[in-house]
Amino acid sequence: MDRKKVTLAELMQKKENGQKITMMTAYDYPTGSLVDQAGIDTILVGDSLGMVVLGYDSTVPVTMDEMIHHCKAVRRGVERAFIIGDMPFMSYQVNIEKAVENAGRFIKEAGCDSVKLEGGSAMAPVLSAIVKAGIPVCAHIGLTPQTATMLSGFKVQGKDVESARKLSESARDLEAAGAFMIVMECIPDLLAAKITKELRIPTIGIGAGKECDGQVLVYHDLVGLFERFTPKFVKQYLNLSPRIKTALIQFKTEVENGSFPGPEHTFTMKEEETGKIE
Ligand code: KIV
Repeated sequence: MDRKKVTLAELMQKKENGQKITMMTAYDYPTGSLVDQAGIDTILVGDSLGMVVLGYDSTVPVTMDEMIHHCKAVRRGVERAFIIGDMPFMSYQVNIEKAVENAGRFIKEAGCDSVKLEGGSAMAPVLSAIVKAGIPVCAHIGLTPQTATMLSGFKVQGKDVESARKLSESARDLEAAGAFMIVMECIPDLLAAKITKELRIPTIGIGAGKECDGQVLVYHDLVGLFERFTPKFVKQYLNLSPRIKTALIQFKTEVENGSFPGPEHTFTMKEEETGKIE
């Protein structure tokens, strides 16, 4: 496989050629490396980190420092994939200066290639300022977990004409503001297809049907490592949690009954040498 870094131009080209774009979340070095080796185009160091790795109840408590720490680890494992750092709640809403400064940390400190932020048309000026600073930005509309309370919970968005119209408008505004890509979460497939057709930039769906230009899933959902709940849009390709638990129980049993470590795991020395040790 070509190990050359994925570029923005290549992502645009994929949309133009009708080739699907792949995106996967990763939060650490080994996962970043596996996702990269699998040839996935883009890696999102998502603030879903808060729920699937750090054990918070939502993405809201995630801090800039936590995001930077995990982005750095992913960066070390990745050669080819285009890395997107997810801006956490309140890192871009307070004012434009702070937003640009925080976006800059993802690039300078963590080595990300771009950032992502949630929100519709209202976020266009912030997004535009970050792009003007020379940082590529991926937008995120539909179900935006950081502000799920404002949306009355984790619900499908854009189901009625008025809210669908608003989402369409948001997508156009964010493209005009300079977004290079837009994630659409939990919206009806026909709305996602309409937005995808209208936009020049690629759309990435999660719970938005198959007509998007690409798809993203949360790694821990895909491999069955997150046991708290599984959204309808998730396809679990592996169910790792029970397999890991079985291995851990086997380790405990073997240590307790003395069958681990065996001779093949043990370093030896001559019996007579031990007598010389004071
Ligand atoms: O944080 C995240 O993982 C995300 C994806 C669900 C798109 O924003």
